[in-house]
Amino acid sequence: MILLAIETSCDETSAAVIRDGRILSNIVSSQIALHHEYGGVVPELATREHLHNLVPVTEQALHAAEVTVGELDAIAATQGPGLAGALLIGLKAAEALAFSLRKPFIGIHHHEAHLYSPWISGDPPVADFTDFTPSVSLIVSGGHTILVQVKAELKHEVLGSTLDDAAGECFDKIGKLIGLPYPAGPEIDRLSREGNPKAHNFPRPMMNEPGDDFSFAGLKTSVRYFVQKNPTLLDDPKNLRDLCASVQAAIVEVLVKKTIRAAERLGVDCVTASGGVIGNSALREQLAVACKKAGLKLRLADRKFSTDNAAMIGALAERKLRAGFSTALDAEIEPSWAL
Ligand code: KG4
Ligand code: ZN
Repeated sequence: MILLAIETSCDETSAAVIRDGRILSNIVSSQIALHHEYGGVVPELATREHLHNLVPVTEQALHAAEVTVGELDAIAATQGPGLAGALLIGLKAAEALAFSLRKPFIGIHHHEAHLYSPWISGDPPVADFTDFTPSVSLIVSGGHTILVQVKAELKHEVLGSTLDDAAGECFDKIGKLIGLPYPAGPEIDRLSREGNPKAHNFPRPMMNEPGDDFSFAGLKTSVRYFVQKNPTLLDDPKNLRDLCASVQAAIVEVLVKKTIRAAERLGVDCVTASGGVIGNSALREQLAVACKKAGLKLRLADRKFSTDNAAMIGALAERKLRAGFSTALDAEIEPSWAL
């Protein structure tokens, strides 16, 4: 099966071609530079940019895969959740292509695609589910922080999610507060490497509460007050690095503790993690250490497939089409689709 997948849920225009699990191409055009000056994604600008980029990105993906439109067996696109206008561009273009080719179409849940992205690995990359095992899975990104129990392939149950800000949003908003460019997550990661994570003891919201939900808004507020009380602190680069390392330590400790605790409670032997924030070096390291200590296998999404990309949409689409699922061609976008 040769499949074209399209992802336009937020600020990345992406197209990928997949043949029998092999990722033949995965082109990602990021809009970060466009939204930079606004300190966050501007939905209307994102929509227009997708409109502008989608055809060249798709052509590039087909060209890199050495596949022609006529050879495609199926088309997939992100149906939700995401920004309404942004989703509309990718979904309707994919439906139109499927209609004109008379090929099956499938709309994919963006978070569900993140969920299975840790099973894409290797060089060249392949979506390989042969070692698939029930797991507890952390999806942690700019728009979502979700803990999921994956009982079997394509069968999962949400254990908890953030009650307010997502972890990536917390990185980005705190970054904005201390003068870092958007998105601040990678910059905080970089600055933290030479900072002291114990310099400030910021709160670990909901870490020791019994449920699997998260909350990060309180941490952001606590950093805001701290910076207001110490206005000259950030004049010294060492203080900035210490502050970043302390913020990162708080976010990472909550994510790691709650994930491991859920895995132990549910008796699974595997933890997986995906989404943009899983690019964070401290989170990767500390999940590895904690899983080793708890005797759990760990599968982290490869950095190439942790931020938004169409390869993960295509990998899940192929599994779903093979399992007999497809989507009617007049599908609506699902901006708030629950996992
Ligand atoms: O999955 P993604 O590309 O888009 C969403 O679906 O949100 O994730 C983007 C988020 C941003 O909040 C960004 O700051 C964060 O992932 N991020 C990181 C790192 N790399 C990306 N956060 C912390 N450390 C990183 N290294
Ligand atoms: Zn995402």
